[in-house]
Amino acid sequence: MFEKVQIAPPDPILGLTETFKADPNPDKINLSVGVYKDATGKTPILGTVKEAERRILEQENTKGYLAMTGEPVYCTQVQQLLFGEGHEIIESKRAATAQCPGGTGALRVVGDYLHIVHPGAKIWLSNPTWANHDTIFTAAGLECEKYAYRDAETNGLDFTAMYESIKKIPKGDVILLHGCCHNPTGIDPTSEQWSKIGDLLAKQGVLPLVDFAYQGLADGIGEDRVGLLELVKKSKQMFVCSSFSKNFGLYRERTGALTIVADDEKQANTVMSQVKLRIRYNYSNPPSHGGQIVAVVLSDPELKTRWIEEVAEMRSRINAMRHLFVKTLKAKGVDQDFSSIIEQRGMFSFSGLTKEQVLELREKYSIYIVDSGRINVAGMTPDNMDRLCEAIKSVL
Ligand code: LMR
Repeated sequence: MFEKVQIAPPDPILGLTETFKADPNPDKINLSVGVYKDATGKTPILGTVKEAERRILEQENTKGYLAMTGEPVYCTQVQQLLFGEGHEIIESKRAATAQCPGGTGALRVVGDYLHIVHPGAKIWLSNPTWANHDTIFTAAGLECEKYAYRDAETNGLDFTAMYESIKKIPKGDVILLHGCCHNPTGIDPTSEQWSKIGDLLAKQGVLPLVDFAYQGLADGIGEDRVGLLELVKKSKQMFVCSSFSKNFGLYRERTGALTIVADDEKQANTVMSQVKLRIRYNYSNPPSHGGQIVAVVLSDPELKTRWIEEVAEMRSRINAMRHLFVKTLKAKGVDQDFSSIIEQRGMFSFSGLTKEQVLELREKYSIYIVDSGRINVAGMTPDNMDRLCEAIKSVL
């Protein structure tokens, strides 16, 4: 059977990392996959994560299966982080959370749920969006549509176009919104714009699905929930897919969650019963280790405070790199205006580099950027900045 199999195209993001790893150039730079690097170019394990692991190792006494929805303590902590402690959604128990293998696992489970339980519902994705969104939902059998997002002229949000295209989404469809640190543009709506989006979605009867993978990396843990909180003020029902890959640095531990927000507790549990069927045939029950780490850190006030400081450190390093990148390009005499990158948030920005320029950077300079021109600012360091900007100057 295998003789007939054709080679598959490499993944646009993870495939590049494979090529990067194989590149023998000692000065190679990886600005492709969204992974945080410290000033020395390493992806560190957070101190709070190490401490939690030490405690887990001491206290863990079984490797039995978790429930299909994971560890209850973890799920409670997820809700508190998303909505803030004491939020009405939590108090009234009208949210239900399942621990999932990463944000990707949560997205796939929602995709399967929507396809089976709400047949005919389409999912609307921002143009552009994370390359894997379309792939996940198409694999789940959903039809994907696009709504306007980025203004190519200003490299900012084209809110008017976004609003107008959301107006065209029919009742009963689903819209995927990035909670903060939009991937791939780094462009987020303001709180006023979130409020208008929330009003419009409620009026139209469109279900929000919030992909919330970068909480804390834009302006702060609390600040970054502004969009989500505006949406929940207007829509009683929604899904949130969240991840601890970035803000806990737990990438390989596949630590995410799916949260259902419903009218009341009974409805949340009913929807969760359907979600559980999809969990069972995808991966049965989630991996435990990453969830235990998050639960230990967030349940201990002292560790939680330290973790918030560690997130702040990552955030300010990324923002410092945004400034240094724009400043270094300017100092090298690059005419093209990259200043919008300073305003953007999270790991990513659209550089405006063309595919040809991206390929030249890869082939001549061993600088890895995804074909769309999206750059991972968190991969820049004071040490690689000069070489990076010199190379960009030469391909422009
Ligand atoms: C990215 O966009 O680079 C990250 O979210 C990692 C991934 O899985 O693609």
